[in-house]
Amino acid sequence: MANEIFGKVEEMMKEIQSYVVDSPETMEEFRIRFLGTKNKIKPLFAEMRNVANEQKKEFGQALNQLKQTAEARLESAIETVTDLLDGEENDNIDLYAPAAPKNSGSRHPISLVMNKVINIFDKIGFSVAEEREIEDDWHNFTAMNTPEDHPARDMQDTFYLLNNPERLLRTHTSSVQARVMTKTKPPIRIIAPGRVYRNETISARSHCQFHQVEGLYIDKNVSFADMKQTLLYFAREMYGPDTKIRLRPSYFPFTEPSAEMDVYWGLKNETDYRITKGTGWLEILGCGMVDPNVLENCGIDSNEYTGFAFGMGIERQAMLQYKIGDIRLLFENDTRFLKQFTSAY
Ligand code: DAH
Repeated sequence: MANEIFGKVEEMMKEIQSYVVDSPETMEEFRIRFLGTKNKIKPLFAEMRNVANEQKKEFGQALNQLKQTAEARLESAIETVTDLLDGEENDNIDLYAPAAPKNSGSRHPISLVMNKVINIFDKIGFSVAEEREIEDDWHNFTAMNTPEDHPARDMQDTFYLLNNPERLLRTHTSSVQARVMTKTKPPIRIIAPGRVYRNETISARSHCQFHQVEGLYIDKNVSFADMKQTLLYFAREMYGPDTKIRLRPSYFPFTEPSAEMDVYWGLKNETDYRITKGTGWLEILGCGMVDPNVLENCGIDSNEYTGFAFGMGIERQAMLQYKIGDIRLLFENDTRFLKQFTSAY
């Protein structure tokens, strides 16, 4: 009798040890079979009363061992099966697969150049002033010392609004100067980036819309030397620390004296000869001391204050920087063109 019972324990031990547990399903079967509420080990405990007293201890130990073995197997089964499942998931990961392309947008080359200019002037305390593109004649011309019949108006072919000839598309960002001066007291230190319009025939080199950044600095005792130093700082931040500049006398109605600033671009290749007409110098901007008439037109006392102003085109700088041969590309928004600037910042 005793041997028979011990035989059952031994059998069950074998069963526990050899039970195949290799999936969540077999694991659950195993648990129910040996450790569940109606498990197969339980009835063996009931056999205790049939075991001779001197063997009870041994029998009890054997049963405990059954239980512990079953528990240990279940525990290790949980580990193996979880590993197996993880393995299955990992099978779906190909570490060598090329990364899925991220469709991040890109900044437009005009914005890239414009932001660079803004950041350079931000460092020396110029804040950004933005104003309307549909202007009136006064802010665009009259306030800027260009009254009606002034020949300088012909320099800029103007788009007037059909239903309201009083209104026009601003021909330059200089109109922002008038807007700011009429509502702010000096000291004034602003740059004004924005779009401007002129009735010009569209070609590879010119367009009827383009971008400018205007600068205006008004305070007591502002001198031409201040302007020159500011523009030199700008040129060096923009084009490198060794950049050379030169100021050539010029004419603008709103500045006196007026100048145009060139940077030395060099003559390294054929294109440089073409772009700089063989001189190596490249015109970047117009500038000058704000004409006292402009200050007075905008309500600023020209005996107390002086200032300088400048205006630069953005398209040409973008075309040089990114080697863009046709200005029209900048306005067509062909994604094949724009995508090339994804890595620029
Ligand atoms: N407004 C001029 C243009 O569009 C550029 C310019 C020249 C702006 C001299 C200025 C300046 O502020 O001082 O051609």
